[in-house]
Amino acid sequence: MAEGKSNDAITLLKQDHREAEKLFKQFEEAKGDGRKEKLARQICLALTVHFQLEEQIFYPACEGTVDEDELKEGYVEHDAAKLMVAEIEANEAGDDEYFDTKVHVLQEEIEHHIKEEEGPNGIFAQARKGKLDLENLGEQLAARKKELTTNYKADGVPEPELKTMDEVSI
Ligand SMILES: [Fe+2]
Ligand SMILES: [Fe+2]
Repeated sequence: MAEGKSNDAITLLKQDHREAEKLFKQFEEAKGDGRKEKLARQICLALTVHFQLEEQIFYPACEGTVDEDELKEGYVEHDAAKLMVAEIEANEAGDDEYFDTKVHVLQEEIEHHIKEEEGPNGIFAQARKGKLDLENLGEQLAARKKELTTNYKADGVPEPELKTMDEVSI
């Protein structure tokens, strides 16, 4: 498969994936609660922005090109991860004894999800075979990423908006 140009949509989304993997790795190696919490906040912010980029711009553009089942799975996996992001974000007092474990479970969810998107017949591979204007989508993604990241750095990460699930209260 030919690699895309440096600023096409898939290249940018893959860069986000590598960044998330790097942050999780840093979290694993971090010592001290302050450092871990700072990294966890960075992870939550980066993933929240990334999910929105895919859900608002990239996935809708893939409709008709990528198998519907594949996109549906993407949306549901995002929602499952958003629940874990919200849990991690809620640990403001830093007293959740499951904090490290939750970040680790989120990492596993994301690693799985990245494989689905980047796999041999995954969303990205199917999108690349189609007739999408990946350059134009890349420009949209880059602009939106800048805007969302600035907003969330200033105001904090918002409550997740679930697309495929009703929130359950137990
Ligand atoms: Fe992604
Ligand atoms: Fe995704």
